[in-house]
Amino acid sequence: MDKIVLITGVSRELGLGYETAKQLKEAGYKVIATARDLAKVSVLADKIGVTAKELDITNDHSIRKLYNELQEKFGKIDVLINNAGSFFDQGGNPLTSNIEFIKDALDTNLLGAWRMIQAFHPLLKESDRPRIVNVSSGAGSFGDAVFGLAHHFSKVPVYGITKLALNGLTVKLASQFKDGSIKINSVDPGFTATYPGTEKWGARPVEESAKGIIWAATLPEDGPSGGFFKDGESIDW
Ligand SMILES: NC(=O)c1ccc[n+]([C@@H]2O[C@H](COP(=O)([O-])OP(=O)(O)OC[C@H]3O[C@@H](n4cnc5c(N)ncnc54)[C@H](OP(=O)(O)O)[C@@H]3O)[C@@H](O)[C@H]2O)c1
Repeated sequence: MDKIVLITGVSRELGLGYETAKQLKEAGYKVIATARDLAKVSVLADKIGVTAKELDITNDHSIRKLYNELQEKFGKIDVLINNAGSFFDQGGNPLTSNIEFIKDALDTNLLGAWRMIQAFHPLLKESDRPRIVNVSSGAGSFGDAVFGLAHHFSKVPVYGITKLALNGLTVKLASQFKDGSIKINSVDPGFTATYPGTEKWGARPVEESAKGIIWAATLPEDGPSGGFFKDGESIDW
């Protein structure tokens, strides 16, 4: 049977979600590409010959609807890639960040992935090689010398804290799946040119950054779980 990948946040051609979907399709996976705007994901999915589905990761009904469809059609998924994420509060100040904005950021970047894993882990457990990838960020780490939480350059406090929390979720769930039933890891894709003009500040091509996500999505049986990786290498939390 096909290896099935479910990926969130595939709404932009320049985005990591689309590039990851494309590379996994090329690698022979059956890809279910999702976005909250069905029209956007449908156009992109058609370009690469994958399946498009509507999914809002902050909406339980939307998640349950997709779960029911995939349960009925395939009875399993092999890989869940929690790529959807946003709320990049460039120049933000945690003393004045709007609390509603913070709640919304957590609702998407942390709880979105959390809801997806709670909902879809029964389908993952039907796979003979289940993998979860949480797309995190150096902004959520203490170890990243440029974008990390403890560095002066770090000016995305809300975003960074949501990714820190997402990393915590990765660790806690890995211990929950410590029988090795599901491998789950956080991946920092690195600063990536998913928005025009960011190359001049050092953002790298999306093709390059997606490779680290693919690596975690396709880990072999003896691969790690509960770690934080960039380009297939372990990095500091
Ligand atoms: N680019 C970088 O330098 C970089 C670095 C480190 C980490 N990351 C992470 O990589 C991931 C992809 O980012 P990107 O750079 O490729 O930007 P992007 O294209 O803006 O990706 C974010 C995606 O999340 C989706 N999304 C937001 N809220 C959602 C919701 N409630 N339900 C479903 N989808 C939702 C967006 O959809 P809409 O179009 O509907 O808003 C969009 O498709 C994010 O998690 C980001 O934090 C990026």
